[in-house]
Amino acid sequence: MDNAGASARPGTDTTGRPEDGSIDAPPGGRGEAGDRGDTRGSGLPPTFDAFVVERRGDGVVAGVRRLPNTQLPAGDVTVRVDWSAVNYKDGMVTVPGNRVARISPLVPGVDLVGTVVASDSTVVAAGDVVVVHGYELGIAHFGGFAQLARVPASWVVPLPAGLDPRHAALIGTAGFTAALSVFRLERHGIRPDAGPILVTGASGGVGSLAVALLAARGFDVVASTGKSAEHDYLEHLGARSVIGRADLEQRPERVLGPETWAGAIDCVGGATLASVLRSVRYGGAVAASGLTGGPELVTTVYPFITRDVALIGIDSVSTPVDERRAIWGRLAGAWPDAVLDWMAMGEVDLFGLPGALDTVLRGGVRGRILVTP
Ligand SMILES: NC(=O)c1ccc[n+]([C@@H]2O[C@H](COP(=O)([O-])OP(=O)(O)OC[C@H]3O[C@@H](n4cnc5c(N)ncnc54)[C@H](OP(=O)(O)O)[C@@H]3O)[C@@H](O)[C@H]2O)c1
Repeated sequence: MDNAGASARPGTDTTGRPEDGSIDAPPGGRGEAGDRGDTRGSGLPPTFDAFVVERRGDGVVAGVRRLPNTQLPAGDVTVRVDWSAVNYKDGMVTVPGNRVARISPLVPGVDLVGTVVASDSTVVAAGDVVVVHGYELGIAHFGGFAQLARVPASWVVPLPAGLDPRHAALIGTAGFTAALSVFRLERHGIRPDAGPILVTGASGGVGSLAVALLAARGFDVVASTGKSAEHDYLEHLGARSVIGRADLEQRPERVLGPETWAGAIDCVGGATLASVLRSVRYGGAVAASGLTGGPELVTTVYPFITRDVALIGIDSVSTPVDERRAIWGRLAGAWPDAVLDWMAMGEVDLFGLPGALDTVLRGGVRGRILVTP
């Protein structure tokens, strides 16, 4: 990935070499591991590199540090991280004053795919490949932007048969969220012959995976994007047509607009979600997961009480693990490999993260940015 022009936030260490040393343990972060040293895996390297974000006064300092393995958090399963990916939430934890990061210092990374190097669990054994995302990962528990991670067994999804690790990382939390959104629309009774399904924030991670999954399931997909340069990309993913962000019905003084969409997957929130709700056909539904356009929702009850429209909230973070493993079992083959490869915007190592995180915060992502720690 070309990181030229990327700017670091104040205090970000971009020197390109890890800073040696330890960090103060966050509350609940070091846990029992600090007392046990590396006894749960004699093959565990004594140190590992991690991208660490730390609050300092009103600012945030972020950079790569070399940590002793005694600073891995508590957990039953220790993983060598083979792949992570950059998500919008990972950008948010680097913004001074954010309310997303719940510990400091924090290793962000809400996604990881890796190989188990030590396990106290019967669910997985050393050598197994696993997928972990959501719960407290990268928010209140050290996440995937590191060479090693340690997590509770109750967060771990064994890599489903038929999925290779890189493709699992391209799917990640974004694909899981897109899949939840599609499955919930289908559970609401929306079928491919219902009419056009709108996807907003379509060129981002959740949006791209939603466009491609809907298309693969035979839906008539209309993609909304703020990026005029990405229309071909979205059509290649399977969108029948692409509209600009500003083309959505923009008359907030009207309580209802034209009945256009049979359903929608909204990754943007704010005024975009309000506009979408005004334009859903009778009996349709909107699956809402995101807030890149803002957390406020100013609307009226009219779409709900005169058009029977449903607003379906999507939360991928706290999905119970049995359901999570079952859903991942449905994701192998859900997207053609070539389509997943098309979504890869680039790969960065830990030192490339400041540029990649800036790209996310500027709304500049096209598909998925992979991380190779
Ligand atoms: N509920 C859940 O469980 C869950 C799970 C994962 C993600 N999320 C949320 O879903 C959203 C998308 O996540 P992501 O990881 O896919 O992010 P992403 O890859 O960074 O994509 C976000 C996309 O949103 C659009 N966008 C950015 N700024 C915007 C603005 N000011 N107004 C309107 N659209 C804007 C852009 O797409 P276009 O240029 O194409 O419009 C951008 O590429 C985030 O809010 C994230 O927190 C929620």
